[in-house]
Amino acid sequence: MTAAVPLLRIRGLRTVFPTRAGDVVAVDGVDLEVAAGECLGVVGESGSGKSVTFHSVLGLVKPPGRIAAGEILFDGRDLRGLSPSTMRALRGRDIAMTMQDALTALNPAFTIETQIVETLRAHDVTLPAGRAGSRAARDKAIEMLALVGIPDAPRRLSEYPHQFSGGMRQRAMIAIALACRPRLLIADEPTTALDVTIQAQVLDLLASMRAQLGMGMALISHDLGVVAERCARVAVMYCGQVVETGPTAAVIAAPRHPYTQGLLRSIPSLEDPDRAIEPIAGQVPDPATKIEGCRFRPRCPMARSGCEQPIELRPIGDARQVRCVRVSA
Ligand SMILES: Nc1ncnc2c1ncn2[C@@H]1O[C@H](COP(=O)(O)OP(=O)(O)O)[C@@H](O)[C@H]1O
Ligand code: SF4
Ligand SMILES: [Mg+2]
Repeated sequence: MTAAVPLLRIRGLRTVFPTRAGDVVAVDGVDLEVAAGECLGVVGESGSGKSVTFHSVLGLVKPPGRIAAGEILFDGRDLRGLSPSTMRALRGRDIAMTMQDALTALNPAFTIETQIVETLRAHDVTLPAGRAGSRAARDKAIEMLALVGIPDAPRRLSEYPHQFSGGMRQRAMIAIALACRPRLLIADEPTTALDVTIQAQVLDLLASMRAQLGMGMALISHDLGVVAERCARVAVMYCGQVVETGPTAAVIAAPRHPYTQGLLRSIPSLEDPDRAIEPIAGQVPDPATKIEGCRFRPRCPMARSGCEQPIELRPIGDARQVRCVRVSA
């Protein structure tokens, strides 16, 4: 029996930005997988390489930035070998991404209707020609806004992004991303700019869309709390590398990497709301600094000799992997 091919499979991804201060290796040997219909949480502090990983998947790394190594397979097909026009066709139709900043990701010069219709036109060949096509596209845009819970959709379609609240903009961006019913949705920090109640609504919306459309999803967040209840599996990233991955419940119940342990201590506990919140000591290093061995070493309370050697992500059983010399199966 052959194992099912994952929807997305990233192997050994390395993405580099040349800068005056030297090469910034934003993503350094990342392996990730998202199965069809699954939600993978990707967490880590700001600057850990989450966005660049998925920009690499979609061919959105701008030169002089480049993918220096690795394999990106979507449904078994190597995306790195695709021509720019094939990649453009795939983007939005098969894989869609909601960007971290909805206000800058949406085009301020066009109405929400135009932006949904543009996406449909770029990908949906089933729209009829001429006026009937415009009507069908408009109906589809209304349907999408209603689907993401924007009330009074026919009127709001003619508005511009700045006329929407933060929560509504995020919903509109999700509507645009979902217009062509992609098989994989990458949601990059979809709730970061929103207040807590709206955050929960947007996360519920994403979960229900995933269930309705049977999509795979990568939910990116700096907040482990956001992915805790929504994703069956999680990958924790630090300084361009995955440092721990596995079933979310197991990782949260017993985090093994000192960085994951620090992340958990830095968010409020659901079980014990009186527990003090402890930020991780120190800061994410400057991206151009080269740290030998474990990237977390300068901040790690458990560092010892041996931590300056290159350290692999190793299986520790129960579908978990950890990148730390002090952790074994
Ligand atoms: N265009 C760029 N030029 C130089 N460095 C970049 C560029 N884009 C991202 N980086 C660097 O890559 C690293 C990872 O960034 P990013 O993926 O945006 O982090 P995250 O999404 O986890 O917050 C950061 O150190 C960032 O400074
Ligand atoms: S390898 Fe060493 S420095 Fe890195 S997390 Fe493990 S104990 Fe800490
Ligand atoms: Mg980011």
